[in-house]
Formats: sequence, C-alpha cells, structure tokens
Amino acid sequence: MTNFWNNLPKPFFALAPMEAVTDVVWRHVIASAAKPDIFFTEFVNASSFCSPKGTHSTRGRLAFTSDEQPIVAQIWGNKPDEFTKMSLALAEMGYAGIDINMGCPDKSVIKTGSGSALIRTPELAGELIRAAKTGGLPVSVKTRLGDIKANEWQDWIGFLLRQDIVNLTVHLRTRSEMSKVKAHFELIPDIKKLRDEIAPNTLLTINGDIRDREHGMELVNAYGIDGIMIGRGVFSNPFAFEKFRPSPANSLDIAANKHLQPEDDKVSGPLFVPGVKPFASCDIERNIHNKKELLNLLNLHLDLHDKYSSELEPRKFDPLKRFFKIYIRDFPGASELREKLMHTKNTEEARRLLK
Ligand SMILES: Cc1cc2nc3c(=O)[nH]c(=O)nc-3n(C[C@H](O)[C@H](O)[C@H](O)COP(=O)(O)O)c2cc1C
Repeated sequence: MTNFWNNLPKPFFALAPMEAVTDVVWRHVIASAAKPDIFFTEFVNASSFCSPKGTHSTRGRLAFTSDEQPIVAQIWGNKPDEFTKMSLALAEMGYAGIDINMGCPDKSVIKTGSGSALIRTPELAGELIRAAKTGGLPVSVKTRLGDIKANEWQDWIGFLLRQDIVNLTVHLRTRSEMSKVKAHFELIPDIKKLRDEIAPNTLLTINGDIRDREHGMELVNAYGIDGIMIGRGVFSNPFAFEKFRPSPANSLDIAANKHLQPEDDKVSGPLFVPGVKPFASCDIERNIHNKKELLNLLNLHLDLHDKYSSELEPRKFDPLKRFFKIYIRDFPGASELREKLMHTKNTEEARRLLK
C-alpha cells in the first residue's frame, strides 16, 4: 500500500480533526475556500464501528468523496482487536491512512481509557498502534504533550516516536491543560531534536493556536518542522489555508469556485475596511476576505449540506446553524441577520433570507 505521507509537499498543512465539525460538508467548504494538503475525519469510535449496527451509526462520520484524497480516518478506542478489524475495513473503504486519537481530554473518552488517557497506559497505546497497522494503511498518532505538566513531555513523546509511526502530530498542551493555556511553542525545538534522534523518518506535525498558513510558515521557518495542523483557525478565517493573501482590491478574483463568483451574489455592503480588526474573539489582525466572499461561502455550505444529504447520508439542519457566526459577522446588521437565520428551519429558508 502506498504511503501518501511520503508524497506530501514540505511543509504540509492539515485541517485538524474536529468532532461535529470536519464532516464531508465542512471539509468541502474549506477545500473550496483554500485546500489543505490532508484531511482528517472527525474521530470515530472503534467500539461503535465494530458493533452490530456500527457501519450504519458511523457512516455519517466516515463519509468522504474521492476529491478529498489524501484523507485519513481518525479513530479512538482502547481495544486492539477492534482496531485490527477497523483497520482492515478502512483500507477497504479507500482511506489513505489511519490516525489514532491519543489526545482527547473529554471526560467521556477518558473514562473508557481512550484518547489522552492512553498517555498513562503506554503499553496499551503501543498495542493499539500495532493493531491499527494490520490493514496496511500508514498509521499516525495525534496526541498532547503529556498528562499534567508540559515539561514532562519527553517520556510520552519519546515512547510514541519508538513505535514506527509515519507521522506524529503534537498538540502543544497537556491533557490537564485542556485549551486553557497557550500552546507551548517554546518546546518545539526540543521535540524536533528528540524526533531527529529517535525517529528521523517519522514526520512531525505541530498543532495548537496556529491561526493560518502564514502563521504556520513562521513556525516552519523558525523550527524546520514537517507539517502544520490548523483547527479553530478556520472558524475565524475559513480561508486559513490560502497560499497568497489577496490584497483587498483583488480578493474577489481568487474565488475559483463558481459559488464564489461575485455576480452570483446579490448582497451589497462594505467590503474591506482597512484598519478594522474584524474578529473580536481572536487575534487575527485583519480579514482580507470580504462580506460577499463569506456569504457566498455560506451559500456553498447550504448547497453542500443538501448535496451530501441526498447523495451520501441525511444530515440534520439544526447543527448547521452553529456555523452561521463564522460567515455572518463584523458588518453592520450582522447580528440581526444571524438572529433571523437562527430561526430558519431548512436550507431553503436560509437561502431566501440571505438573498
Ligand atoms: C469542536 C472541536 C472538536 C474537536 N474534535 C477533535 C477530534 O475529533 N479529534 C482530535 O484529535 N481532536 C479534536 N479536537 C482538537 C483539535 O483537533 C485541535 O487539536 C485543537 O483544537 C487545537 O488546535 P487549534 O488551536 O488549531 O484548534 C477538536 C477541537 C474542537 C475545537
């Protein structure tokens, strides 16, 4: 089986796996705005997958289309035999790789001994990695620095580097730090040094608080890491993976997708306002993508929701509402429009309102 990780650009950029976010619809929205080099599914529980109704209950999470390659299925659990079974099935389904979640700090995951609880049971973690390799797909791991203290990362990261994995993604926080402290960028040089010593062939991807490609490139240039993974950055800026930041004047030209063509759009209003910090909730300094582009992206989101609901797996409309604030913000009347959108019952109503 080919190992796609060897054919990635250097550095490579990945969209982080995010539960209830990075499904087939949202991944296509992001790809349309600016495509990352790798996609991950939301995490999928191996016990659910292996249960009698498992292939049905996990179908929504595991749905993908051929234009998303390379796509990696992220799995979580604590039973090696289930990982074996799932790895065979995922290879059969056409996934390019398997990533094991060893970083989730959620209580419901921890109490099963999975996710970041595996940091305290490295022997089991090793067994799970071996089991995940059964199907022949390249196996990677996404984890945190450790359990409690950031400066105790060496044992755990060193252990994982000895497991012959293709890529190690390190979210630069410990389990107990959750997302409450800033990512420990200061540890990157030492992590890279350990990787070079123990497993020079294992790729090293850094994750946590990275806003966009430009920010990721600063870290790559400073530390020489292989990959950058971006999660919440796309909430502030769905165009986070774009290679060239357009100037305000030509920002409409970069819209390759037909949904992003300005003539499709009937919404008028202020475009880019120099000097205005559009994302109050984050430290991205400016949004060079204007209101029209964001509204067009929302229309695309609605279209893709319908498309994949009919082609792949029915999807509920209500969870889609959580995404409205990504597109409808920082322009006069945004909160009123958002409020109205929250009362819509289906994509058609939302589309009508947007027009
Ligand atoms: C809503 C949400 C869901 C997440 N779900 C997953 C998941 O399924 N698997 C996983 O490995 N990490 C998950 N994470 C963690 C992210 O992948 C990432 O490690 C974390 O958000 C830090 O990166 P960021 O600062 O770029 O967002 C999730 C994070 C968020 C915000």
